Amino acid sequence: MKKVLILSGAGLSAESGLKTFRESNGLWEEHDVMEVCSASGFRKNPKKVREFYDERRAQLEKVKPNHAHEMIAKLKAEFKDQIFVITQNVDDLLERAGCKDVIHLHGFLPELYCASCGTHFNIAYKKQESTTCPKCKQPFLRHNIVMFEEPAPQYQTLYEALNQSGLFVCIGTSGYVLPVGHFASMCEHSILNNLDADPALDSCFDKVYTQKASTAIDQIALDIRNYLGGNYV
Ligand code: OAD
Repeated sequence: MKKVLILSGAGLSAESGLKTFRESNGLWEEHDVMEVCSASGFRKNPKKVREFYDERRAQLEKVKPNHAHEMIAKLKAEFKDQIFVITQNVDDLLERAGCKDVIHLHGFLPELYCASCGTHFNIAYKKQESTTCPKCKQPFLRHNIVMFEEPAPQYQTLYEALNQSGLFVCIGTSGYVLPVGHFASMCEHSILNNLDADPALDSCFDKVYTQKASTAIDQIALDIRNYLGGNYV
């Protein structure tokens, strides 16, 4: 059975109003990545990290899925067992667009987990402050987001999906964290969509759409339908 992997990054949610990380005016210009997004930073100043993610949740509540999230949800509903939807994003915009079975490689912002008993639970867009574990009532909670210096358990799922997919579609990621150019070489066909051209990365893909995800997605949907229907060019 032909399969397609759609891997997204911050660029997918940019038009909804969530900042990307590495573009000018991006999150890593406003915050020191190692202070708020590393295991050592969290040990040093947990309050700062909690406030950073409280702020992210408050922002997430104010934004809505865009056309690209909606189109991915539609494709996933249409080709349930043939499309893997995997994202580096921790937001819930794909889910809010109705997308099923989204795999979050770097965790999920609306969730916390309990360091005492391991329970994961959803606080939606609330602040973490004074929350206790619904199961063991302990206060030792943390964001359910992978930090630098920690393993990312879902990467195993990503590699399994790559091994099964003939078409790799990469939307809105700079490739600084994941070697997406290498992933392209693992699949027979590959498509990249980013707002900014990056000659080194672009050269790894068969097709490149250098434009907003919300405008590229209709052509990408056509490419996916053609690939799964045996008419890919
Ligand atoms: P980056 O900020 O590194 O890259 C964003 C990419 O999105 C760039 O290539 C832009 O060209 C593209 N882009 C921006 N707006 C776009 C739009 N409207 N349509 C299409 N593309 C657009 O973000 P990521 O690659 O997702 O990890 O970052 C990867 C990881 O680094 C994140 O998951 C996060 C961060 O550290 C963790 O926090 C664990």
